[in-house]
Amino acid sequence: MGMRAIVIREPGGPDTLDWAEVPDPEPGRGEVVVDVTATAANRADISQREGNYPPPPGASPYPGLECSGRINALGPGTEGSGWRVGDEVCALLSGGGYAERVAVPVGQLLPVPAGVDAVHAAALPEVACTVWSNLFMTAGLTSGDSVLVHGGGSGVGTFAIQLAHARGARVLTTAGSPEKLARCRELGADVGIDYHTEDFAARVKEETGGAGVDVVLDIMGGAYLDANVRSLAVGGRLVVIGLMGGAKAELNLGRMLVKRLSVHATSLRSRRPQEKAAIVAEVAQQVWPLIEKGAIRPIVDRTVPLREAAQAHRIMESSEHVGKIVLTAR
Ligand SMILES: NC(=O)c1ccc[n+]([C@@H]2O[C@H](COP(=O)([O-])OP(=O)(O)OC[C@H]3O[C@@H](n4cnc5c(N)ncnc54)[C@H](OP(=O)(O)O)[C@@H]3O)[C@@H](O)[C@H]2O)c1
Repeated sequence: MGMRAIVIREPGGPDTLDWAEVPDPEPGRGEVVVDVTATAANRADISQREGNYPPPPGASPYPGLECSGRINALGPGTEGSGWRVGDEVCALLSGGGYAERVAVPVGQLLPVPAGVDAVHAAALPEVACTVWSNLFMTAGLTSGDSVLVHGGGSGVGTFAIQLAHARGARVLTTAGSPEKLARCRELGADVGIDYHTEDFAARVKEETGGAGVDVVLDIMGGAYLDANVRSLAVGGRLVVIGLMGGAKAELNLGRMLVKRLSVHATSLRSRRPQEKAAIVAEVAQQVWPLIEKGAIRPIVDRTVPLREAAQAHRIMESSEHVGKIVLTAR
């Protein structure tokens, strides 16, 4: 049997995405096959489409880092996993979400949270795992800390604001328009900074009585490195998860040494399945209950049929969206 998927004809713009007949995925050891209800667009999909972010070895060639759907088949070695054919799930993927079916290691499956429909559930796995692993497992954010979230209107940003706020942190955020900042405040941001009109490091100092923030979650990389380091308080932690402003910059080690700072740079997709499973397990335990009690909700800007993924990419590239763009497969 075959299925349809979004294939990247050749590296390039959105028009290089085709809705094509492809072979069905074969579940490997420890994997199940999921009938995809919906997936969601991520910036990484755009880099993959452009030829700048190849899938890791063994991953599906099709884009798509997350999905929701129903388990259609159990692969070898999944008998004791507790998952059954017919279970409604969402999943963190290494690729292949832009398809009607995808093979998923059982360690990367999550139940659909109570109170969330299958379409909205597709907007959760990538941002929940990214934000939990970086803000909490890597940067050790705790209640009473302050955190600067760059790109508060992004998929990652809208989730980071809600989760940090729900866990008792004070949230400062940057975005490119007053409208996006107003949305960020509704989600729990205490301070909104328009990066087009304000110097964010100066504003962070002003808002923290000169001390700086405990944690910065950064998506800009090189362009923001110096200002991020200047924004940190003594003992502060910078976590770089995106390079939208380039990969290279000068780092002032003197400032880091005096303030005892640390800089982390991480990628979720390249982690080994065991590490992804450990993150997914913590997310199920720590984050899902907050979603189920309504403290955090999936922020879906709009839904687009999966076969029109090119249109979703154009919207994402224009940055007119707030939160996630969900792609519906059926
Ligand atoms: N390392 C990892 O494991 C990992 C995992 C997931 C995502 N990411 C990264 O996280 C980033 C966000 O991903 P996403 O899928 O959530 O993308 P997205 O929704 O497209 O968000 C990108 C955001 O960046 C904002 N932005 C652009 N220039 C900015 C600037 N100079 N300062 C502050 N914000 C700026 C844009 O909005 P405005 O300019 O209008 O404010 C937009 O909201 C990407 O870089 C992605 O690669 C990394």
